[in-house]
Amino acid sequence: MRETVELIDRFIGIFGEKPELVAFAPGRVNLIGEHTDYNGGHVFPCALTLGVSCAARPRNDRILRFASLDLPGEIIETDLDSLLPLSRRVWTAYPEGVIHSFIEEGFRIDTGADMLFYGDIPSGVGLSSSAAVEVATGVMLREMFGLRLSSERIAQLCQRAENRYVGVSCGIMDQFASAMGRNGHAIFLDTHSLLFEYAPLAMEDAEIVIVDSRVKHSLAGSAYNDRRRECEEALAALSTVLDIDALCHITPDQFEAVKDVIADPICRRRAKHAVYENARTVAALEALDRGDLFKFGRLMNESHVSLRDDYEVSCPELDVLTEIAWSIPGVIGARMTGGGFGGCMVAIVEKASVEEFTAAVSAGYEAKTGLKAGFICVQPGDGAHIIKN
Ligand code: GLA
Repeated sequence: MRETVELIDRFIGIFGEKPELVAFAPGRVNLIGEHTDYNGGHVFPCALTLGVSCAARPRNDRILRFASLDLPGEIIETDLDSLLPLSRRVWTAYPEGVIHSFIEEGFRIDTGADMLFYGDIPSGVGLSSSAAVEVATGVMLREMFGLRLSSERIAQLCQRAENRYVGVSCGIMDQFASAMGRNGHAIFLDTHSLLFEYAPLAMEDAEIVIVDSRVKHSLAGSAYNDRRRECEEALAALSTVLDIDALCHITPDQFEAVKDVIADPICRRRAKHAVYENARTVAALEALDRGDLFKFGRLMNESHVSLRDDYEVSCPELDVLTEIAWSIPGVIGARMTGGGFGGCMVAIVEKASVEEFTAAVSAGYEAKTGLKAGFICVQPGDGAHIIKN
């Protein structure tokens, strides 16, 4: 791979020696099941072939040096004894957090390392570049220190890093998809039990197209954590009449019967989204199993409406993108994807209509917002792995 050769060359240029290994972790796109992963529900993401590579070499001391090809000339230095949760405002909080999380878990990491990162996935667009940085670090640590842990466990430790070290209360979806992806498949994951199955995405006549609204989202922004709190408040109210420990453990019918115990109308709408979105995600797997892509697409559209109106995590630009997409005949389904407040739309488009889709979305979006949409062609790819050692 040309990028790997270049990464190794640049590593030598920056750190003076060859890296010992190169790890890769993909980004992900979530097809359906949004904001369900911290509510004990299902998600349906697939890993991408785009992602983050990390070239690394152990050191003889306890120093950690981080560099990124995206930020030429900058080396950020710290050491194993100075890793402090919530102390960092720079990108290295992600890999540092993972190292911290591994040490906290009792894994023996007793020497520092030099690390160089390179990503071919845009950051801040809802395709989980930060989870890819975390999981690439996790897989690199496992290899470098000969640690015995599964990829699922790596995903959990990376989530912990993001929750406790970076300070974003994200669920497990992104890290799990990045660690566990499989070429040509999406992952149907129960985020409560972590039981999962791979669903083949053999869509002969259709393609997944991602459209970047070019509105950057910021997950660390308080809105994500607000949604979590609102869901917790709704759960506390529902728990007074139902024996449940997660919003997604009830059906829409059960929810409708008791929803009025949630006094705050905002919290009620947040809970409604979580409950119905979980049901949609389960129905989406069934539809895919039956080969009913049109049903799958309708569920995606409904997901967007719910995220827009009840969960309120869309933004005007993503709404414009989806409205345009829905009006194009060859579009099977389209919705915002990821945390929201900007980022990307994911659409399933009939192969024969992809060109028309691209042209119509570009022109319509620019006319309405003045912004140029970005188009990302994706293939469902494998989870994190070592690409060179
Ligand atoms: C972000 C989080 C995930 C998930 C999604 C919304 O990507 O990192 O855990 O909550 O938002 O579905």
